[in-house]
Amino acid sequence: MTPLTGPGLALPDGFLMGASTSAHQTEGNNLSSDWWAVENRPDSFVAERSGDAADSFHRWPEDMDLLSELGFNAYRFSIEWARIEPERGRVSRAALAHYRAMVHGALERGLTPVVTLHHFTSPRWFSELGGWASPESAGLFEAYARTAAEVLGGVRHVATINEPNMIAVMHTLLRNVPRRAGDEGVAAVDPALIEPDADVTQALIRAHRAACAVLKAADPTLQVGWTVANQVYQAEPGAEAVAASHARSREDVFLEAARGDDWIGVQAYTRHRIGPEGPLPVPDGAPTTLTGWEIYPEALEEAVRHTATVVGPRVPLLVTENGIATDDDALRIRHTAQALAGLASAMRDGVDVRGYLHWSALDNYEWGSYRPTFGLIAVDPDTFARTPKESARWLGSLARSGRIPGGRPAVPVTSPAAG
Ligand code: BGC
Repeated sequence: MTPLTGPGLALPDGFLMGASTSAHQTEGNNLSSDWWAVENRPDSFVAERSGDAADSFHRWPEDMDLLSELGFNAYRFSIEWARIEPERGRVSRAALAHYRAMVHGALERGLTPVVTLHHFTSPRWFSELGGWASPESAGLFEAYARTAAEVLGGVRHVATINEPNMIAVMHTLLRNVPRRAGDEGVAAVDPALIEPDADVTQALIRAHRAACAVLKAADPTLQVGWTVANQVYQAEPGAEAVAASHARSREDVFLEAARGDDWIGVQAYTRHRIGPEGPLPVPDGAPTTLTGWEIYPEALEEAVRHTATVVGPRVPLLVTENGIATDDDALRIRHTAQALAGLASAMRDGVDVRGYLHWSALDNYEWGSYRPTFGLIAVDPDTFARTPKESARWLGSLARSGRIPGGRPAVPVTSPAAG
């Protein structure tokens, strides 16, 4: 079933079609990580703990079996620094063997692994030193990347750091969050209003460059990049300068830092409208997702076009995240079809996109709650049984066919008539 009728696009040879996850959100019991510490503080602002997550630490072979049986040819997952280096300078050989087995497992199943070294979580000891604000952060990450290179045999695409722009915002946010139980915590603070920490931004860029260098030195065939949260800032009339300055520190500086990279990851979910006074709320009555974001599938096309403009034609793009938190799987299909049609239009215009990795392969831990379900595959929280949704079969069949849909829906994807 493809809910759009326009001409589709034949994907170029080697195009990656798959899905993404991150370690902390799926593995479970990531005991040495800073997020685990935050979740499990008695006064935590986090509503729900990650706990066993989807138990993918043990069940990754089943996850990969499903993805390859569904027809996908790629899987993006992350490896966990806190497991590999649970204490400063002490490397767990068992953790390295675990991730090496995952890389081999993906390759054996015909899934091209796209491996992220850092997806939001750090070892507890790293955070206790000040995290990315520590003067040692770039050097410590570089040392971790050198160690991580040991598991990357057979991998082509490595992402150093996931959404560094969100990390810089979170750094400011977490310092301003009320810590007492009963306060509203993170939910009380609107991230759109938060200025990313400038020192952390620079530290992340230094860490990325240092990691790129050691990874390429370890294996010159590795294609190294990072993945940026594309916010799709849209200026209201008269707010062009405000929007440009808002986008600069929150996004463009991180895209510019990728100009010398082998690829860049585009992650897009929604748009953010900027008025003369700054970010505007989602308009009253606009349909929203389970995360409260405006449903706006056009975000993907706008994000890839913006990214390509900023990084320039030399750096190819991979869509490393795009999806929707919904319990209406038919909406997920319509939303994704429209997002892919936008991607097809950008590719037809010459934007060099080499892959599309949907967020997420599994329903997983959405940083404080299991309620927003982004997955193509449902996970039973008690038995961990995996059940592919219709959207998984639909997207997998597109992967098999080597085509993505084109055109525009006759009615908005959120309209009941669109079903
Ligand atoms: C992150 C994921 C997250 C997703 C949906 C991205 O910001 O990389 O970890 O689950 O968006 O919120």
